[in-house]
Amino acid sequence: MTDAERPAPTTFPPGFRWGAATASYQIEGAVAEDGRTPSIWDTFSHTPGKVANGDTGDVAADHYHRVGADVALMAELGLQAYRFSTSWSRILPEGWGRVNQRGLDFYSRLVDELLGHGIEPVVTLYHWDLPQVLQDQGGWAERATAYHFADYAAVVAAALGDRVTTFTTLNEPWCSAFLGHASGVHAPGITDIVTSLRAAHHLNLAHGLGATALRAALPPTGQVSVTLNLMQLYPATPTPEDEDAVRSVDAVANRIFLEPMLNGGYPQDLIVDTAALTDWSFVQAGDAEAIQVPIDVLGINYYTPARVAAVRPQDRERLAARAAEGPLGDQEPAYWPGSHLAYEVPQDGPYTDMGWRIEPSAFSALLLRVAKDYPWVPLMITENGAAYPDVIDADGHVHDADRIAYLDAHLAALLDAMDAGADVRAYFLWSLLDNFEWAWGYEKRFGIVYVDYETQVRTPKDSAFWYRSVIQAHALPR
Ligand code: FCB
Repeated sequence: MTDAERPAPTTFPPGFRWGAATASYQIEGAVAEDGRTPSIWDTFSHTPGKVANGDTGDVAADHYHRVGADVALMAELGLQAYRFSTSWSRILPEGWGRVNQRGLDFYSRLVDELLGHGIEPVVTLYHWDLPQVLQDQGGWAERATAYHFADYAAVVAAALGDRVTTFTTLNEPWCSAFLGHASGVHAPGITDIVTSLRAAHHLNLAHGLGATALRAALPPTGQVSVTLNLMQLYPATPTPEDEDAVRSVDAVANRIFLEPMLNGGYPQDLIVDTAALTDWSFVQAGDAEAIQVPIDVLGINYYTPARVAAVRPQDRERLAARAAEGPLGDQEPAYWPGSHLAYEVPQDGPYTDMGWRIEPSAFSALLLRVAKDYPWVPLMITENGAAYPDVIDADGHVHDADRIAYLDAHLAALLDAMDAGADVRAYFLWSLLDNFEWAWGYEKRFGIVYVDYETQVRTPKDSAFWYRSVIQAHALPR
């Protein structure tokens, strides 16, 4: 039997876990309650022009006040695990030092509610909401922030580690470093390549120091992880120049995190590519050892691939002139964030409502690449999902067939990769609820549960019932 004739697998292995994911600033609201201080996303979203429609996370999905009902809903939907993030500025309102017990109590109650319903909590410590007080001291551009993060990790592990097994240090440090400090479309909105590289290093250091702090505070059964949004990259044209653009973007987007975290140092080609910009003197003796600490599982977020091209001399002027004119549209070529060598080219559809190309085979390819390069690390999919312009129909339901098709195709692609050797242990769908989608505000709906932001009524979409049946069958319907 050839590979092409072999029937596609539809059943997941025993022990594979199913969940959904959210993040603190995107769902909680209650931004000034119980001692919480502002994060960089409060500041950013309240800055005119930064977020679509001037939306903020002030109320979001009001999850802070609806924890009990939201967990009951998760149980109804058959979730086995729930990935959420803790808000640093609820727990350490001054960024470090004084612990706010009321902040910890909220997460402690959430964990108890989950366990009471047989749902495994998976905690992310940092999903982009740095306390504003730490940004005022330089934020991720400063080394001290990494040490404060480790102290914060120790506080959360001491409070929840008796009940939570799996902790993730950072969510998508690529976005924090490069969308936050190079393209500036995310908080804190800085646009400087060297600062973005410094931030990337301090995020790596925060991961390593945080992982060590977690290990020290957790029982031996504790699982330590990090979540990366790795990019599956393709050349815009089959030319040596564009192939090299793939290499250089792979260095500044993927290997800048994978290599120090898993292999003990920055890739040489990254240092060479950026030599005209920085000598990397922000990397100090001992950092490589501090960052490369063993992790138990690597979280991967995947939505869409990217296609990149080399910046040729004639492009340089055009890209600079266009950038000076104002914000770029969705499908316009733009410098790759943090790179002066490559740019991202528009991709063909089909697209989700984000304008993101749907390409499930890129998901399989990405997982197999990680499995090949870092075969010793088990994987979990910490995010995958799609935004669509959902509406509640006259019959009271949300018929999101396009989301179901996206999920079905990506779960099939996941099974293909597992069949070919990728060791994937769990899948978390993004997202449980419609929520504050960062620079897009409430315009984009990723939930399998529809949220009416006027009434805060939750309506499970067709995809939620579909997902429940997948979990029950532990297999894809065929
Ligand atoms: C990821 C983020 C998550 C959500 C999805 C759509 O980059 O981690 O918070 O916004 O994208």
